[in-house]
Amino acid sequence: MPYSNIDRVAIVTGSSSGIGLETALALARHGFYTYATMRNLNKSAMIQEIANKEELSLEVIQLNVDNDLSAKNAVHDIVSKKGRIDLLVNNAGYGLIGPIEDISIEDELKPQFETNLFGAVRIMQQVLPLMRQQKSGMIINVSSVGGLAGYPFSAAYCSTKFALEGLSESLSYEVEQFGINIILVEPGLVASDFHNNIRMATKKVAANSDSQYLQMMQKLFEEYKHVQELYQISAKEVAKAILDAAILDIPDQRYIVGKYSEMMVEQKMTMSDTEYYNMMKTQLFGGKL
Ligand SMILES: NC(=O)c1ccc[n+]([C@@H]2O[C@H](COP(=O)([O-])OP(=O)(O)OC[C@H]3O[C@@H](n4cnc5c(N)ncnc54)[C@H](OP(=O)(O)O)[C@@H]3O)[C@@H](O)[C@H]2O)c1
Repeated sequence: MPYSNIDRVAIVTGSSSGIGLETALALARHGFYTYATMRNLNKSAMIQEIANKEELSLEVIQLNVDNDLSAKNAVHDIVSKKGRIDLLVNNAGYGLIGPIEDISIEDELKPQFETNLFGAVRIMQQVLPLMRQQKSGMIINVSSVGGLAGYPFSAAYCSTKFALEGLSESLSYEVEQFGINIILVEPGLVASDFHNNIRMATKKVAANSDSQYLQMMQKLFEEYKHVQELYQISAKEVAKAILDAAILDIPDQRYIVGKYSEMMVEQKMTMSDTEYYNMMKTQLFGGKL
């Protein structure tokens, strides 16, 4: 028998702020019984207060996507209470910025993959056996325009999102037969704590005052501010796109969210590689390189 939204159980990772917080609220407002998960429960006050005020079916539980035991305990807790999971939104993530020369594989690149890619895999591996048994389920992976196009000094971040894209496309073929949909959401520039939470590479080749990398990064950050002013969307808009996908019986495989993402994808699809590359250089560095 089909389940109505009110019976449906959703998990959202990284719900302490931004897209995760807005998505958890949007799903709960739409009738999903929603587990808003976060690694640090001290950050739960805001979502908890809104949920209480609006009398939403929303519970906050602890989940650090980097940690096997945390993932296992969270999913076990939900399954023992609700007996089912209909929707997983893999949203937890952060950005790492710096020239690839500056990035420590051990201390920076692996942790970046640990959260943005392995974190998503970790939770998927916990929920997939149950979804297979249910013969239904949906997994929405929050990727990025950086999962479709490379950006200078974002090689680490983009590589995690490109990997998430490939993983999601591949997984779709494996689990469609069990009634499980794998969806990608690709926002561009979103107003959230993401920009404050960005980690900068700590090896400092780029910080030398005579470094060409430093000059490029400074130019990039200046241009980036203009692009941000023009195109930044709210976390609520991304949450709406996620909700729209979540309530469809036959959702699309990809949701490109916001004008910036739409524009970049269109340009990537219609231009030759060289045209696109040259256009990006002009856009990102003001054409002065
Ligand atoms: N903002 C953008 O411009 C943008 C654009 C495209 C895609 N995205 C993607 O959207 C997703 C959400 O980002 P956002 O913009 O909402 O940024 P945000 O406000 O910084 O939210 C990121 C969330 O991820 C959580 N998180 C980080 N590491 C975690 C871990 N190990 N375990 C559990 N939670 C963890 C953070 O928790 P803490 O509060 O504990 O740090 C926070 O709740 C990310 O995957 C990001 O890559 C963002």
